[in-house]
Amino acid sequence: MNGFPQSTSTEADQIESPHSKKPQQLAVRYDGPAKVTGQAKYSYEFSKPGVVYGYMMTSTIPSGSISAMDTSAATKLPGVLTILTPFNAPKLPVPKPNPPASRHANVLQDADVYYSNQPIGVVVAETLEQARYAASLVKVSYAPTPAKMNFEKRLSDARPPKKGKDYYDKTRGDINKAVADAAVKVDVTYTTPIQHHNPMEPHATLAWWEGDKLNVYDSTQYISGDRQTLAKTLGIPVDDVHVECPYTGGGFGSKGSTWSHVILTAMAAKVVGKTVKLALERRQMFGPVGARPRTVQHLQLAATKEGKLLGIRHNNICHVSVMEDFVEFSGNATRMLYSSDANETSHNVVEMNLGNGTYMRAPGEASGTVGLECALDELAHQLKIDPVQLRLANYAEKDPESDLPFSSKHLKECYRQAGDRFGWSKRNPTPGQQREGKQLIGFGMATATYPANRSSAEATVRLMPNGRVFVGSGTQELGTGMYTIMAQTAADGFRMDPKLVDVKLGDSTLPKAPVSGGSQSAASVCPAITDACGQVMVKLMDMAAADAHSPLHGMKPAEMEFRDGRLQARSGGQGETLQALLARNGGQPVEAKGMAEKGQDAKQMAAHSFGAVFAEVAVDVDTHMVQVRRVVATYDIGTLMNKKTGTNQLMGGVVWGISTALEEDTHLDNNFGRFVNMNLAEYHVPVNRDIGSIDITALNIPDTKFNPLGARGIGEIGITGVAAAIGNAIFNATGKRIREYPITVDKLLLS
Ligand code: MOS
Repeated sequence: MNGFPQSTSTEADQIESPHSKKPQQLAVRYDGPAKVTGQAKYSYEFSKPGVVYGYMMTSTIPSGSISAMDTSAATKLPGVLTILTPFNAPKLPVPKPNPPASRHANVLQDADVYYSNQPIGVVVAETLEQARYAASLVKVSYAPTPAKMNFEKRLSDARPPKKGKDYYDKTRGDINKAVADAAVKVDVTYTTPIQHHNPMEPHATLAWWEGDKLNVYDSTQYISGDRQTLAKTLGIPVDDVHVECPYTGGGFGSKGSTWSHVILTAMAAKVVGKTVKLALERRQMFGPVGARPRTVQHLQLAATKEGKLLGIRHNNICHVSVMEDFVEFSGNATRMLYSSDANETSHNVVEMNLGNGTYMRAPGEASGTVGLECALDELAHQLKIDPVQLRLANYAEKDPESDLPFSSKHLKECYRQAGDRFGWSKRNPTPGQQREGKQLIGFGMATATYPANRSSAEATVRLMPNGRVFVGSGTQELGTGMYTIMAQTAADGFRMDPKLVDVKLGDSTLPKAPVSGGSQSAASVCPAITDACGQVMVKLMDMAAADAHSPLHGMKPAEMEFRDGRLQARSGGQGETLQALLARNGGQPVEAKGMAEKGQDAKQMAAHSFGAVFAEVAVDVDTHMVQVRRVVATYDIGTLMNKKTGTNQLMGGVVWGISTALEEDTHLDNNFGRFVNMNLAEYHVPVNRDIGSIDITALNIPDTKFNPLGARGIGEIGITGVAAAIGNAIFNATGKRIREYPITVDKLLLS
């Protein structure tokens, strides 16, 4: 990683915030030049002499076992090196790998089939074409068993998750009484579909062994999780596994776990004694690497005539695989978003012969805000109260679930600011009244929310003799801006130009950082960088004070300051460059390892981000096509670390919300137990033509109770609330309330 080309301008792009010192804002992404010039390398693009190619075979039945795999014709093909099957694969120390950092992996230790498209073998050949062709010649015989399909018909099979009702369900107050006594009630069921992540870069792994040591390039959100899981699964010491991933081409949660193909690639590399690279085909992204579970959400709202909520009930059912329970926590936000004395949230699961569910951008909140925020809109309509007013009438000043104060909450300002920017006051509350030619126009809104997470993290900061600063942490760059804010944070520490900072991440030899999931990387890693910078600066000040040749000789730290690559006196300004100081003192780098933990008072407050989302839709009266013309959203996410990368993430989240509202759905053939749209032609996601104007603002009010930077994380909140705001806008436009997401033309036509 070369960092910024020296010619790149990084003109300041400061954001006004009256509240505190602002972080330096880099107008150019640290990794931008490398990406646009093609120098940034993704896992599959690395190579080693003699590299060979793996191709993963997957099952074509959803349930049963493999009785035989005839590889005779495939093995005879030129270039084929090995074909691993459940009948010849090396035995692993853990027969059903499911280590803590991992998931139930399908790594050829048994012949069981739990879902269609499950990994059942790996062909390794000298070229990818040879491997893929060989795989097509392998004859697989199955002994099928009846598959658990037809989710909708099997809702009565729903059971509590294996982790237990206590973990997933919560009740406060008397919800039955609240519902019985309420003057106004809403009783509705919303559903959300199975979604698959489909980052542009598919999952890909490149593995080679040096003796007993394993090296891996893997497209991942969690290098140290990969490392732990590979070590545990393969039965080797953690120190013998080295994982690298300088860039991840999107992950969205699917790359937060170590799935089967990572382990299979390492196994294949061992068997053939060569470097093996393996990428999933697009169709293999549908099952083997997780999905957002389908949900059925039953909601009951009980309110007074004035719109005060007396009770909220949110009972959720989601699908899980037969291998493990991954629960879409769709009732989570319902507990804390509005004040109401009675509150019940529950989560039950229906087993299906499908791949595992997993984390997908705002797992829980993305789905749960669909049900909750649409149900509130239905209540507002019944009450003839403005939807924003209804939310203000039930505004939670403290966390209603824990009764703890929020670390910082400015949701009212979000409603006001986004509402003003949108022009909400022009909304006609009566559906179907606003028309432009053949377009019915509708306005809708919803609340966005996501918890603020933080984990312990470490970082190394090193002042080099040439005056540049190196900062390293074993975190990941998913396209989020991690390189950029790491450079900014180190530069802020030394009050120097970020162009003088070199960043390294995505290497398991670096100090440990958490999974890039749960929107926690900025909030976890940057404080560790600040800590390391502080330690290095203390060492440098001590060095100067002790150095008789330094202009700062004999000064106390409080009398010195760092500025523009110099250490100087606060008063008078005499001082020297950091290069000069180091040159006289051994000419070696000065480094420190910084650490950051969750704040001491994490248990004394509730930390969440919030936002308000407003949407305008146009619905064609003949075709029922929906165009989302505008989304205006304002977020309270604490400090906005970088305007470009932060706004970009929020905008990406909003685009995914539009996708959730109108397009994305994985269609399951219940007879064959397989998805029928396992490609980007038929798995619809928005293209540019589908996206209108998106206006994103952040309040940028630092939450310094949460961490010293005041940043709460930004990766996931952008998707939340958006699909509800759009559904509510469609109702306002048409008077049609579609409760089965996504809201496609057929549903609007038939309702
Ligand atoms: Mo995120 S779904 O926690 O990677």
